Amino acid sequence: MTVSGQPADQIDTSTAHSARMYDYYLGGKTQYKVDREAAEQALTINPHMRTVAQANRAFMHRSTRWFAETGIRQFLDIGTGIPTEPNLHQVAQKIAPDARVVYADIDPIVLRWAEALMNSTAEGRTDYVQADVRDPQSILGNEDLRKVIDFNQPVALSINAVLHFVPDDEQPYEIVETLVSALAPGSYLALSHCTGDFDAETWERLVEAYGEKGVRAQVRTKPQVLRFFDGLELMEPGLVVGHCWRPDETTDLTDAEVSLYAGVALKR
Ligand SMILES: C[S@@+](CC[C@H](N)C(=O)[O-])C[C@H]1O[C@@H](n2cnc3c(N)ncnc32)[C@H](O)[C@@H]1O
Repeated sequence: MTVSGQPADQIDTSTAHSARMYDYYLGGKTQYKVDREAAEQALTINPHMRTVAQANRAFMHRSTRWFAETGIRQFLDIGTGIPTEPNLHQVAQKIAPDARVVYADIDPIVLRWAEALMNSTAEGRTDYVQADVRDPQSILGNEDLRKVIDFNQPVALSINAVLHFVPDDEQPYEIVETLVSALAPGSYLALSHCTGDFDAETWERLVEAYGEKGVRAQVRTKPQVLRFFDGLELMEPGLVVGHCWRPDETTDLTDAEVSLYAGVALKR
């Protein structure tokens, strides 16, 4: 793989970061005290945060597998997170060894680990760009990305558990529209997003707690999440709570525990 972006030497350990808090929920080891404290506080507000993270990760596995089985060979994953096995390229390349994958994340700590962990098959390709989804043109125009992704061919764009870190005043809908408009017909969007629909009070407190730790967040209702798919054709079973998207097996999870919508849509 190649890696592009800023040097990973400016990791801010003074405030919590969403990637490192998420890593803590997933049982990873890549966090600082400030992240662990913020994550522990979030867990006292919502003891299901680990379930949310695991269900989200499982959605990424199933949707990526589905894309590869459907014939998609190019993947762009924005807001990748700290590498956690299996990573998206491992899921895709297990089915399609020639799959080409570009990861993008804003957090320099992801860049630091990306190099060590994201190894492609010989037939395929992986790349990592440090980028801010709020500047979609900088992602689409990235030279290294364009060496891996051919935008004349279908791409599976995944933006999982990221857009709840982009409040309305940062134009999240316009961002998704810009990204999707660059994709060829036959491309897909996979998107997951936390919601307060099943326990509004808890999620309001969580958003507040994240904000107090320096992480801006906004959960959205089902119609608000659906809006991200405007102009696209949602694949069965539509926008559902994460564990209900084409599950491999039945689970005892409840909508309130998972509190994350997930969907996949086709660009005709
Ligand atoms: C909850 S994690 C989700 C990780 C992964 N997508 C997954 O579903 O397992 C959110 C990720 O979004 C990244 N992120 C947050 N704001 C971002 C932004 N403005 N641009 C790019 N990435 C961002 C964080 O650094 C973090 O890695």
